Amino acid sequence: MNRKVVIEMEHIRTQFGPKVVHEDVSLKVYEGEIYGLLGGSGSGKTTLMREMIMLLRPAAGRVVVLGHDLMRIKPSQAQALRSQWGVLFQFGALFTSLTVAENIAVWLREYTKLSDATIMRIVRSKLKMVGLDPDVGKLYPSELSGGMVKRAALARALVMDPKLLFLDEPTSGLDPVSAEAFDNLITQLRSLLGLTIVMVTHDIDTIFNVIDRMSVLGEGRVAAQGTLEEVLKSDHPFIRQFFGGNRAKARILEKECHGK
Ligand SMILES: Nc1ncnc2c1ncn2[C@@H]1O[C@H](COP(=O)(O)OP(=O)(O)OP(=O)(O)O)[C@@H](O)[C@H]1O
Ligand SMILES: [Mg+2]
Repeated sequence: MNRKVVIEMEHIRTQFGPKVVHEDVSLKVYEGEIYGLLGGSGSGKTTLMREMIMLLRPAAGRVVVLGHDLMRIKPSQAQALRSQWGVLFQFGALFTSLTVAENIAVWLREYTKLSDATIMRIVRSKLKMVGLDPDVGKLYPSELSGGMVKRAALARALVMDPKLLFLDEPTSGLDPVSAEAFDNLITQLRSLLGLTIVMVTHDIDTIFNVIDRMSVLGEGRVAAQGTLEEVLKSDHPFIRQFFGGNRAKARILEKECHGK
């Protein structure tokens, strides 16, 4: 099978002063997959994602997204490229002084000349798409539950109909039931909208239920890469440690028993 590569990173080195965050990190994300970036806190997951979306330039290496070499891209092409992805940032809460609808409409107002009525129609359709009642648009972020805030932020990330979606710890801070519901929403939207998704996550359930392939970062390098089966076969000490917790062990056992 000849799958289309949507993101390719080659030999990435990232450095802040003397601190080396990534050394020789390479990965490929294929069209239609949900790709996980895993690793301990401070291992450089968010930083790697920032390099994929042109918020940070690596010290060395090559990043190609949707066929564009980000190290050589012209500013005029960069703007067009940015509109082809949506991002849910790790601490990307909504603007607290704006209603949910105004939050979702921000990019449309900034980058399009659509009428107010059309913008509001799009906002309502995005709210429905993420499982929220369109009336939620009238509320302020402080009036929403944690799960609703994540859904509203997802609606904002999807407002420009991107083909590529970046999610940084989308279920962190949610209770297990809301986290599972959010995971289900992500997999449904992937199929419905034909999305390719890069997701940073620590969540063991998400890793087992949602992620197709992944890179696990450790000590600046890729400790293991591939499907969950492939990663679990690795005897890299970092992988043993990452999947060595009780919850992960229980899920591995469950997986082996059910052959899932
Ligand atoms: N702009 C910056 N200047 C200096 N150091 C930075 C900068 N951005 C990130 N770092 C450092 O790079 C390392 C990786 O940070 P990053 O936020 O990518 O980690 P992470 O894997 O996303 O962690 P977490 O799971 O806690 O979100 C950290 O040591 C961080 O302090
Ligand atoms: Mg992070």
